Amino acid sequence: MACTLPPGDLGLPFIGNMLSLFTSLRSGDPNSFIQSLVSRYGKTGIYKTHLFGCPSIIVCRPELCRRVLTNDELFKLGYPKSTYLISGRKSLHNVTSAEHARLRRLISAPINGHESLSMYIPLIEEAVVNSLDEWASMQQPFQLYTEMKTATFKVMAHIFMGSVNNSTFWTKEDLFGDYMKGIVSMVINLPGFAFHKALQARKELVKVLQSVLNEKRVIMTKSNQPKAKKDMIDLLMEVEDEDGQKLEDEHVVDLLLTFLAAGFNGSAITTLWAMLHLTEHPEILEKAKQEQDEIIKRRPATQKGLNLKEIKQMNYLAKVVDEMLRMTNILSIFREAKVDVPMHGYNIPKGWKVLVWTGAVHMDSETYENPKDFNPLRWDNIKTKAGAFIPFGAGSKLCPGSSLAKLVMTIFLHYFVLNYELKRLNPDAPIRYTHGPVHEDKCLVELYKIS
Ligand code: HEM
Repeated sequence: MACTLPPGDLGLPFIGNMLSLFTSLRSGDPNSFIQSLVSRYGKTGIYKTHLFGCPSIIVCRPELCRRVLTNDELFKLGYPKSTYLISGRKSLHNVTSAEHARLRRLISAPINGHESLSMYIPLIEEAVVNSLDEWASMQQPFQLYTEMKTATFKVMAHIFMGSVNNSTFWTKEDLFGDYMKGIVSMVINLPGFAFHKALQARKELVKVLQSVLNEKRVIMTKSNQPKAKKDMIDLLMEVEDEDGQKLEDEHVVDLLLTFLAAGFNGSAITTLWAMLHLTEHPEILEKAKQEQDEIIKRRPATQKGLNLKEIKQMNYLAKVVDEMLRMTNILSIFREAKVDVPMHGYNIPKGWKVLVWTGAVHMDSETYENPKDFNPLRWDNIKTKAGAFIPFGAGSKLCPGSSLAKLVMTIFLHYFVLNYELKRLNPDAPIRYTHGPVHEDKCLVELYKIS
């Protein structure tokens, strides 16, 4: 059995290689961290390092990433302690494997099912069109990054509870911001610390969500009639497992908070970058627009808004979305070795973190020619190896919201390419990668509605 650690270095005492990582994230080229390992130790695709306070193994070859993500016997989740403490007892991160599998079965239809996605389309459209119109009517340039986060929060809140008009959840974005900041934080439960703030925010958010559940239950018992308009909370309250067991309220609340936390930033950043790249590549924008125009032209006069059949016809836009998912997913999925694991001629010691470095896999020129180029057409003929395109992970923890995330991005881009134009005020603003790829000016723009 292999007992040699992979090549690499454990950096400085205490801080390990965090400084090099931060320097690379602030340098405008997040891949330089991995490039430096490659140039010093060769292209082994597996390296030892010390990050986030733990000795860790980085894997960045498609087949190794896949092996780590799909083998639950050898690897478990390896997120920081704060993630588990903030996400709630009944969230997917904290339950046993059997309960995890049961919950995944139960949430599959409400998040990803054909009927649910069809039902969410008008909810998403309403929130998206409102946001775009609001931005276009602004008299001042605005930070697209900040606004996009707000818009995504509203879209998600609308999907969750769009049928409840008097919910105050919409107004809780700041609270949710505090909650998010604590997910990866030092576990110090004292006033002033991010973790403490996040716990307080969680308490408030749980209260609001519980009151929505109570309100829905009252409506259900009063009318005893199926309601005309439903949302994700309705679906989660209805699902039953093989034994007729429903989800408890605590499950529904913890699941919703996990969905928000898991889906919010990725969807916002990917959509923002798609809008920017389309604006900067007029020929690609034109093609995307043509496709959307043709879809609208074929629509019967009686049909209001998009439907799932039309979304499935958006082949070109789907490539734009995949290209953006490839380019914007820059960091890592966290696992921990449950036992000593031999891999690729090396040993991953029990208890070490394993970082599946999606950014390196997605930017590897062996798989993606000129990986830094925005080129949706690369998806026409590409034959990627298993593990070479993993924006949503793989295996039993594969993102359950992938179809919903793509639906939200597609609807956003549909309305954007057809009706709006974007102008950046500081096109040369540097990009920082500490919270995903974000411009230093938070992407200051003006948005115009085209007649
Ligand atoms: C562009 C948007 C998104 C990206 C890039 C993304 C990415 C991911 C990735 C990589 C994982 C796997 C994490 C791991 O293996 O440790 C994951 C898990 C998860 N995602 Fe997403 N996600 C997105 C949107 C969403 C949305 C919209 C939702 C829900 C509505 C969602 C819900 C979840 C949940 C609940 C998990 C945990 C699954 C489990 O532990 O079984 N995600 N996501």
